[in-house]
Amino acid sequence: MHAFVLGGSKNIGYYAALRLLEQGNTVTFLLRRTTVFDYDEQMQHYLKKGQATLVAGDGLNLADCRGDEAERTGKAPYRAVAGEIEGGYTVSRRDTAHFIVNGVLKDWEKWEGKGVVLVY
Ligand SMILES: NC(=O)c1ccc[n+]([C@@H]2O[C@H](COP(=O)([O-])OP(=O)(O)OC[C@H]3O[C@@H](n4cnc5c(N)ncnc54)[C@H](OP(=O)(O)O)[C@@H]3O)[C@@H](O)[C@H]2O)c1
Repeated sequence: MHAFVLGGSKNIGYYAALRLLEQGNTVTFLLRRTTVFDYDEQMQHYLKKGQATLVAGDGLNLADCRGDEAERTGKAPYRAVAGEIEGGYTVSRRDTAHFIVNGVLKDWEKWEGKGVVLVY
């Protein structure tokens, strides 16, 4: 099974995600800070195994899904960058979801184990 986890940086969401990973599932996290697991040995283990991917974003960032433009233009209006860079937090939650569905899930091997930031 592949799980999408919102609120996985700590407490309930964190332990639920850890349980899913222990059971052998893959997990995409939506996190406001993808550095949150930098010193977490358990999460680093699953990231290195390629069982988890961290996508930066804010679950309350309301705006249109510009990702749908890709169907017309052939190119998504955002760029996905592996690693922590500035300016990746203005992307709407709909575009973040667009990337998770059309990028991460369709090309898991490319994104597994990475912290990904989206920019317009
Ligand atoms: N704890 C309890 O006893 C209990 C009981 C019943 C129900 N609940 C409910 O269960 C949920 C989780 O509880 P909790 O105690 O684990 O809460 P928590 O410790 O406050 O954790 C909240 C999580 O949501 C993330 N988050 C908050 N706003 C976000 C946003 N705009 N975009 C993306 N992520 C966001 C936080 O990420 P950051 O690290 O970025 O802040 C964190 O990972 C809550 O809805 C709570 O009301 C909790």
